[in-house]
Amino acid sequence: MLNVRVVAHRGTPEVLALPVLSPNGGDGEAAVGRLPATACRADSEVRDEALALLAGVEHRGAAGVVQTLTRPLRRPARVLLVGVGSGNEAGWRAAGAGLVRSARREAALTVGLPVDVPAGVRRDAVRGLAEGALLASYRYRLGADPPDKAPKLRTVTMIAEEPVEVASAVAWALAVAEATYLARDLTNTPSDRKSPAWFARRVERAAAAHPGLTVRVRDPRELTVEGFGGILAVGRGSARPPRLVELSWRPQAAHRHVVFVGKGITFDTGGVCIKTRDGMKLMRKDMAGAAAVTAATIGAAALRLPVRVTALAPLAENMPGADAYRPGDVVRHYGGMTSEIANTDAEGRVVLADALSYAVRRLHPDLLVDLATLTGSATVALGKRTAALFTDSDPLAKALGEAADAAGERLWRMPLPDDYTEAVRGELADMVNSTDVGAGAVMAALYLREFVGAATDRWAHLDMSAPAWSDSADGELVKGATGWGVRTLLRWLQSLCPP
Ligand code: BES
Ligand code: MN
Ligand code: ZN
Repeated sequence: MLNVRVVAHRGTPEVLALPVLSPNGGDGEAAVGRLPATACRADSEVRDEALALLAGVEHRGAAGVVQTLTRPLRRPARVLLVGVGSGNEAGWRAAGAGLVRSARREAALTVGLPVDVPAGVRRDAVRGLAEGALLASYRYRLGADPPDKAPKLRTVTMIAEEPVEVASAVAWALAVAEATYLARDLTNTPSDRKSPAWFARRVERAAAAHPGLTVRVRDPRELTVEGFGGILAVGRGSARPPRLVELSWRPQAAHRHVVFVGKGITFDTGGVCIKTRDGMKLMRKDMAGAAAVTAATIGAAALRLPVRVTALAPLAENMPGADAYRPGDVVRHYGGMTSEIANTDAEGRVVLADALSYAVRRLHPDLLVDLATLTGSATVALGKRTAALFTDSDPLAKALGEAADAAGERLWRMPLPDDYTEAVRGELADMVNSTDVGAGAVMAALYLREFVGAATDRWAHLDMSAPAWSDSADGELVKGATGWGVRTLLRWLQSLCPP
């Protein structure tokens, strides 16, 4: 991981980045960005040259845009003028991402932080810059890089007047980045390696680094004894049997218990209702919900957040094997409710139903949030970068929405119309796992709601099929798994903690 630190002013660096703020309106069309005073005390020559460049290229301070001033015989030899927009956290996050991309061939980069702004603004700037830089420099590699391809950038040094004041912002960004890296690694891993047992072992290993975290992994024998019929049914077509991971963070001073549930299909072929090649090619990401909730829980432990968190990850591989579950089968879930299988490709809700029932019956959560790459239909509705939020609780919707906004992730609330529920009730069983009435993401959410029982007032479901993956580098995202949800969940957990 990139080395990110904050120090007080010292010497003149080889490569210096200076923030550029957007013009604050009223200056007319020709206005260019502004150069705020920073703690790195760039000399007047640097500032004059920078201002000339800004005018010449019409750099308007758009967040993340970088223009390089080259001064081969002087120091700093390169000055990177990076747009931070209005200077809020999102602007700095984009700037951090833009900088590590522009400076990938440099060994080190020094960034001047603005002075003469309130401490809160400074902290947000540091957190944004650090998060953007760390998240955008993530790479997933199965082998070593060829030496000419590997990025050289090792260290980003921020210059602040009072480094101590922003230390917690750096610590937050590091914990968030580490958790996001874990979620991305898990999700990017090819499914030939990524069996349910492999995922469970990876979580055990990551959790072992943090005192206060415990992991319980249920194997098929235990799942059978305790009646997790949904997880077992979906996993039956695969030679690699299912698991249920229960990861707990139990701090001493916890005043609330949050339970996360994440869909953990390590590969989704659709089962005997098999997908097309096109529909299947990216289905190694079908455990991104499980990755996000386990990684966020580990992040909560790393940050020692004073809230009790349990993450449940029902893990199975959905394959069309000789013993695979079939359309028409009836599955008995944890707690006794039954589902008729209409489509083996609607497998996510079948494993989630077990985990949600278990959460409500055994863990008595104060708040219950599930994340799942559940439907293609959520993507049809909201596109690639926005998750669908379903909940009956207005306060929970508000809190999750604010956390997502602050984190730079996006979600949009969708309806749960009571009268649609009739369509997810079964003929042979209590429920049916797929319908032909349209509104696929809504019907999936209504199906899940029936398993939450009386706890619907404290439950939210996030369908994050699309934002879990990015087809290209974009701001703090890189191509591939995004780790969507880790940042939102950590912000939300933090908002639950008394200041
Ligand atoms: N894992 C898929 C949903 C999905 C599709 C995620 C595309 C990401 C990208 C899920 O298991 C699935 O197959 N859903 C079906 C449900 C249908 C059969 C009721 C869908 O959305 O088409
Ligand atoms: Mn499916
Ligand atoms: Zn799936």
